[in-house]
Amino acid sequence: MGRRKLVVGNWKMNGMREHLGEVEAIGRVAAAHPSVEVGLCLPATLIMAGSERRGAAFIGAQNCHMDISGAYTGSLSAEMLAEAGATWVITGHSERREARGETNADIAAKSAAAHQAGLNVILCVGETLAVRDAGRAEQVVADQLLASLPEGAAADWLAVAYEPIWAIGTGRIPTMEAVAAMHAALRAALASRIGAEADRMRILYGGSMNGDNAADLLAIADVDGGLVGGASLSAKKFAPIIEAADQQMAAAA
Ligand code: 13P
Repeated sequence: MGRRKLVVGNWKMNGMREHLGEVEAIGRVAAAHPSVEVGLCLPATLIMAGSERRGAAFIGAQNCHMDISGAYTGSLSAEMLAEAGATWVITGHSERREARGETNADIAAKSAAAHQAGLNVILCVGETLAVRDAGRAEQVVADQLLASLPEGAAADWLAVAYEPIWAIGTGRIPTMEAVAAMHAALRAALASRIGAEADRMRILYGGSMNGDNAADLLAIADVDGGLVGGASLSAKKFAPIIEAADQQMAAAA
């Protein structure tokens, strides 16, 4: 099917100017592995400086407002982020859905606004442990995806990230079988909405991905990359994940 692996770091609320050297180092790792699309979603304060030192990695933001401008103290529009140098943005991260009360409708609107401003989008979905334990994960996450998918979603500007909430920052990950089943369920859900375009859309895994588990996760047929938190904060930890993706691309070629 030829989906290019997409490996993206999410620095969350981490990163000061002194860490720009890591951006540069990760940009060099990206340049050494051109088969993989590599990016870093930085705190907004580092987007401008980071985009000057990004090498072959793209720079993304972690959130945007759904409106172009207005009386929204403390918020940033997609257009502002694009002007600062971002080319991608994360929408619907569970840390915003849960703690900031973002709804599926908000996330669809933010994703559409991002596209309007020329940004690519990583739309996040994922279940709580209670939902997983109740055996409802696939249904709940597929419903969440369809409810937050913007109108006209297409693979050339939108990727999905499946991030089980209980796997984020915990060192725990689902079994490979569970990841495979979820990604297949999400692709089927996408196909029900966007037809054949679903085959081109990348579905990333996120949640405690690291250099030790990346090769196994990225070998799963419907896992098209990763959204990586902690292990993306340094080139040393992030490089093995990019290398694992590169090896999968070589194996598929
Ligand atoms: P960790 O890789 O630190 O678990 O974070 C995952 C994540 O939330 C990426 O968006």
